Order: sequence, then structure tokens, then C-alpha cells
Amino acid sequence: MYLRIRVWDLPLRLFHWSLLALVLTCLVSGWVGGWWMTWHLRSGYAVVALLLFRWCWGLCGGHHARFVHFVAGPRRVLAYLRGKREAAHAAALGHNPAGGWSVLALLGVLSLQVASGLFASDQIFTQGPLASMVPDRISDALTYYHTTVGLPLLYGLIGLHVAAVLYYALVERTNLVLPMLDGDKRVDAATAAVATASRDGWRQRLLAGALLAGGGALALWLNWLGNR
Ligand code: HEM
Ligand code: HEM
Repeated sequence: MYLRIRVWDLPLRLFHWSLLALVLTCLVSGWVGGWWMTWHLRSGYAVVALLLFRWCWGLCGGHHARFVHFVAGPRRVLAYLRGKREAAHAAALGHNPAGGWSVLALLGVLSLQVASGLFASDQIFTQGPLASMVPDRISDALTYYHTTVGLPLLYGLIGLHVAAVLYYALVERTNLVLPMLDGDKRVDAATAAVATASRDGWRQRLLAGALLAGGGALALWLNWLGNR
């Protein structure tokens, strides 16, 4: 017998699966190049909007989406890694102490990737909307970061992320994907008694919509700057 507790609110779940689709579009269009770069920029702007939303949602989203509730200090991370998993799980149903830092790293590296992309240029076809507003050496350095430094970091973190999800599924026999789809974790009564659920009502969703609209407006403005 288990109880269901809302862990991932709807805006966070929509954020996650849209981010996955759009980052893949950015990667494939970047690899193929040529005319696909139009889609690279479009999907890149959409990732800008999503990330802006996520940074704000970390301050005002549902309980387990907030940074204060999943970014743990070094002592808790070490205790977790040394194997005191049960204690850590009872306290937090969301990201575990080590996972919290990997989430922050993913969001940070993705943000650097889009920020550098805004200033990047291939000198022929494609340039980010802010590339012509900075001296060439700055645009060159950020293009180098975008194409040569940021990408391996991103591949490493995405690989680690998917490996962790697979490890939980195959070794720990815990399905993390289902809660990222329907929002709920299944826990026993003892854990439910000490756990906090994430609020996920219409007010939260309206707030999320407004934040995403703000991020979208900024992304559209960047697109407009690039097409001037
Ligand atoms: C481009 C690829 C991906 C990126 C950039 C990405 C990014 C993220 C981020 C940022 C989070 C944290 C959610 C938050 O609090 O904001 C997350 C969590 C999660 N992701 Fe992904 N993800 C990717 C691919 C995948 C794939 C392929 C799967 C599995 C099918 C997956 C399953 C999950 C799950 C289950 C969680 C919750 C982990 C937990 O319970 O702590 N992700 N992902
Ligand atoms: C998560 C988001 C992004 C990812 C994963 C990504 C990935 C890539 C990849 C794989 C390439 C090809 C690298 C190569 O040719 O070696 C590339 C090139 C490029 N990207 Fe992005 N990108 C992202 C976002 C952006 C954004 C938001 C912009 C600007 C609006 C942008 C602008 C560019 C430009 C101008 C190039 C051409 C640089 C060159 O070939 O020298 N990217 N990106």
C-alpha cells in the first residue's frame, strides 16, 4: 500500500520535456548546419525563454522546484554519498543532495551555452543577435566557448543525467521517469507523514504562464534584434 505525493508541479514537468526536445533540436541543427541553422536559432531562443522561466521558478515554484529545497550544503552531500540515503530521502522527496547539484550544473551550463550563442558567429551565414554589438575578439572567444568548450561540458552532464536515471531504474529499481510524467512519487505512510507536497494548483500555473510569457517576450525581442 502506497500513497501518492505531488513532487513535480505541472509547469516543471512541461519545462523538462520541452527542454529535452528543444535542446535536442539545437544539437541536431547545430551538427547539420547549413539551412538548419535557422531552426538552430529558433530553438535556441525557445531555450532562452525556458531557462529564464526555470531560474524564476527556482525562487517561486512548487516546494520541490525551489533551489532552497534541493541545493544542499557539502555536509549533506557527503553524508548522502557515504550511504545515508534513507535519511536524505525521508527529508526530501525531490532531487537528492547530489542530484540537486547536478541539476544546478545542467541549468548553469545550458545558460552559458545560450548566452554564448547570442554572441556567436560563423563569419558567413549565422550569427547570434548580439554578435555585431561587441568587439570581434569577444565574439570570437564566445564562439569558441559555444562550439568547443560548452558542448563537451553539456554532453558530459546530459550523459551523467541519463546514466543516473538508468542506474535508478536498473540497480535501485526506482522509476524516476514516471513522477516526471504524472508529477507524483509513490511512498509509504511513514515517508508521507514527514514529506512536503509541491503546490500545483491553477494559481501556480497562471504564475508559471506569466513567467514563461515574460521569458518568451525577451526571446522574441532578441530575435527581433537579430533580424534588424
Ligand atoms: C537534453 C536532455 C536533458 C536535459 C537537458 C535534462 C534536464 C533536466 C533538468 C534541468 C532536470 C531538473 C528538473 C528541475 O528541477 O528543473 C531534470 C530532471 C529529470 N530528468 Fe532530465 N534532462 C534531459 C533528458 C532526460 C531524459 C532522456 C530522461 C529520461 C527519459 C530524463 C529524466 C529526468 C528525470 C526522471 C528527472 C527527475 C530526477 C529526479 O527525480 O531527481 N531527462 N532533467
Ligand atoms: C542549448 C542551446 C544550444 C545548443 C546545444 C547549441 C549547440 C550548437 C552546436 C552543436 C553548434 C555547431 C558547432 C560546430 O559547428 O562545431 C552551434 C553553433 C552555433 N550556435 Fe548554438 N547552441 C545552442 C544555442 C544557441 C543560441 C541561443 C544561439 C543564438 C541565438 C546560437 C548560435 C549559434 C551560432 C551562431 C553557431 C555557429 C557558430 C560557428 O559555427 O562558428 N546557439 N551551436
